[in-house]
Amino acid sequence: MCGIVGYIGNKNAQNILMAGLKRLEYRGYDSAGIMTLDEKEKSVLLRAKGKVSELEKRINGNKVEHTVGIGHTRWATHGEPSKRNAHPHAIGDIYIVHNGIIENYQDLKLILEQRDYVFKSDTDTEILGALIDSLYKQSETLLEAVSGALQMVVGAYGIAVMSADNPEEIVVARQGSPLIVGVDEGEVFIASDASALVGHTDKVIYMHDGEIGVCSRDGLELYDGDSHVVRAQVEKLELDVQSIQKNGYDHFLLKEIYEQPDSLRATLSGRIDPKTGYAKLGGLNVSDEQLRDIEHVFIIGCGTAYYAGLLAGYYIEKLVDGVTIHNHIASELRYRSFHVPESTVALIVSQSGETADTLACLTELKRRGVTCLGVVNAVGSTIAREVDGGVYVHVGAEISVASTKAFTSQVVSITIFGLMLAQAKGAGLQLIDEYIEELDALPKEITKVLETKAGEVKKLAKKYASYDHAVFTGRDTLYPTALEGALKLKEISYIQSEGYASGELKHGPIALIDDRMFEVCYIQDNWLYEKSQSNLIEINARGAHAIVITDTDKRLSAEAVVRVSTRLRHLTPLLFNVVSQLFAYHVAVVRGNDVDQPRNLAKSVTVE
Ligand code: F6R
Repeated sequence: MCGIVGYIGNKNAQNILMAGLKRLEYRGYDSAGIMTLDEKEKSVLLRAKGKVSELEKRINGNKVEHTVGIGHTRWATHGEPSKRNAHPHAIGDIYIVHNGIIENYQDLKLILEQRDYVFKSDTDTEILGALIDSLYKQSETLLEAVSGALQMVVGAYGIAVMSADNPEEIVVARQGSPLIVGVDEGEVFIASDASALVGHTDKVIYMHDGEIGVCSRDGLELYDGDSHVVRAQVEKLELDVQSIQKNGYDHFLLKEIYEQPDSLRATLSGRIDPKTGYAKLGGLNVSDEQLRDIEHVFIIGCGTAYYAGLLAGYYIEKLVDGVTIHNHIASELRYRSFHVPESTVALIVSQSGETADTLACLTELKRRGVTCLGVVNAVGSTIAREVDGGVYVHVGAEISVASTKAFTSQVVSITIFGLMLAQAKGAGLQLIDEYIEELDALPKEITKVLETKAGEVKKLAKKYASYDHAVFTGRDTLYPTALEGALKLKEISYIQSEGYASGELKHGPIALIDDRMFEVCYIQDNWLYEKSQSNLIEINARGAHAIVITDTDKRLSAEAVVRVSTRLRHLTPLLFNVVSQLFAYHVAVVRGNDVDQPRNLAKSVTVE
């Protein structure tokens, strides 16, 4: 989704802004631009449709030594991807970059047209820029004009604004769209995503909703919505350069798949102890008595985060009697007339911590007085700050748009929460111990899958890469695994792939099966083995191209069988999921797709 960068200091602003935009590329975008200004108020505005490399070509003929500027990567909302719609927008004396959506832009446009503004783009951002410009004409400072304009605006924004007559300051503001300000001696960096600040400074200020600030070479002056000065809290940025580089891998996605044993160790560290049977997430801010009283758990997320909650929900149900799990897709829940039963806790699951729909659910649940706990990766993100307590999954930067290591650690974190519930409620100790042992063994088991299955899966991917349709099926915990496997494949390969509960096949989806599609069937050697095998027989009878992913040695009739040998029983779906991640990756590579930045997708979905 859109990305913002800004700089004021004594270094070359074009270089810093371009490096920042490259760091933000992973978020997904369709055009980019930068604007820099010199002391004589001469500006250089460059924009391009397509990749940042296109913008770079434009800069090559327009190099300047300016030390202040703003930049943007745009993911189209209002208006097609084009140079004309790319940010920064210049209108009157104002330059602006904006993430988010201005909902009342059409009303504002009518007012501004009466004031003789003519618009060159289709964007809501240009209208906000004009509104600021019209107020700037009557204001003493840019801060006053921006603040006045934002009072007339309905919607979400993270903005960085400059005026053509003042190369000494950049005004920034946020409402519902993240903005981070990095500070150092004589310079200030602005970014919508911490990755753009790495290597420049590790001293950062995470802006809060409603705040507005003035960035100058002296630092950041911050104000709240009532224009009162706010004491900015400077925090240490925990990201390092290593974590945002490919480190020899062809793609971030592959690197992140292979990082899972380590990222999982980081998730588990200090949270389980197989020797003592201990499972605890610090930071939940929930006492044992409160845990004991919980009867309902809402688990809310979008996409992969939702599927992680779905899978972990099965685990909680197995671990604890008397707790009802309510899984919800955030974009649905936020508009439903839903009832929250007494004794409910809500788990808000999000890698980025910025997903608009998930955040909206959090706001609504908090309004209703529900205890909300975050399961978040991005440190300092909005969801992480707004929840009552929670757990960081600690997988480090996840750069590839398709989520892999975050999924595994989200499932594991929520399962540890389930273990805490089970312990507080005095549930079966033996089962708790089994889960803790399996969690402890999981990183090594994933390593084994990566070491032993990669070649086989790559070959398989070659064989099936030319199909255009796929179905993924599984039962029980393998049903969410099927949903996630299908999502991963469709996101990066563009093969239409759908996940189904195996038992649902004959209620409709089996009608799809023909020679043009393949089926991925997850089958675990457990109490549902025979039932899953029957489903396989049913689809084979219809001429399916079945690929089975299984932990059994028993004979299974299928076009291809990937056998994962493991001593796990409960967490085996997470191993099967690693196989599907590898499969999706290699299919996408064979098809020549942009694996890390699949078409139309964004890493952090900060608008509805
Ligand atoms: C799938 C994927 C998306 C995200 C979803 C939620 O690979 O990346 O489905 O899982 O957009 O994002 P977060 O977890 O940041 O809230």
